Amino acid sequence: MNATIALLHKRRSVPPALLEGPGPAPEQLDDLLRAASRVPDHGKLAPWRFLVIEGEAGRRIGETLAATHAADFPDADAARLDVERQRLTQAPVVVGVVSRARPHVKIPEWEQVLSAGAVCMNLVVAANAAGFGTSWLTEWYSYDRRILDALGLEPFETMAGFVHIGHPRDTLSDRPRPDLADIVTRL
Ligand SMILES: Cc1cc2nc3c(=O)[nH]c(=O)nc-3n(C[C@H](O)[C@H](O)[C@H](O)COP(=O)(O)O)c2cc1C
Repeated sequence: MNATIALLHKRRSVPPALLEGPGPAPEQLDDLLRAASRVPDHGKLAPWRFLVIEGEAGRRIGETLAATHAADFPDADAARLDVERQRLTQAPVVVGVVSRARPHVKIPEWEQVLSAGAVCMNLVVAANAAGFGTSWLTEWYSYDRRILDALGLEPFETMAGFVHIGHPRDTLSDRPRPDLADIVTRL
């Protein structure tokens, strides 16, 4: 079977807690981001951008996540706050994909959003092809304006997701996949 098709057939998400270093070196990461940004993009708007989060940046954002969670849930215990602190520090590299979709005279916003999803998936596939494991996650902080401000998103920008990249510590069993008969209509 063709290697790309085989990869698509067997790829599994790997939770960030199971992704260890080393992550992609800077040049390799650039290569992955270049591959990720080569997506269908109606109107050549490039309605997306990347946030690269490594090391100290992940710890700094983690403190903001913990502080925001503590403000919303004053009874949160130390273990719960640690969960927030570690959100973006477990995998060696986390790439945030920002959607810059906005009203356009010709290109529907929906198509711009889909293009950002394609960027995420291209990054997932490219990183897996390069031998890494990945997880594409959003979680609450992708939808919290306080966090988006801390990440430097403009008011119209949204998070398409965070792609966590590292080396899988373990292999995961598969999960059920939809039957083609349930999702295919031949017209
Ligand atoms: C936009 C988007 C956001 C997601 N956010 C989360 C999330 O916040 N938490 C989560 O457990 N899974 C999330 N997932 C699902 C995982 O990426 C993944 O699909 C799931 O863990 C199943 O793994 P698989 O890729 O091996 O099928 C999200 C998927 C998408 C497409």
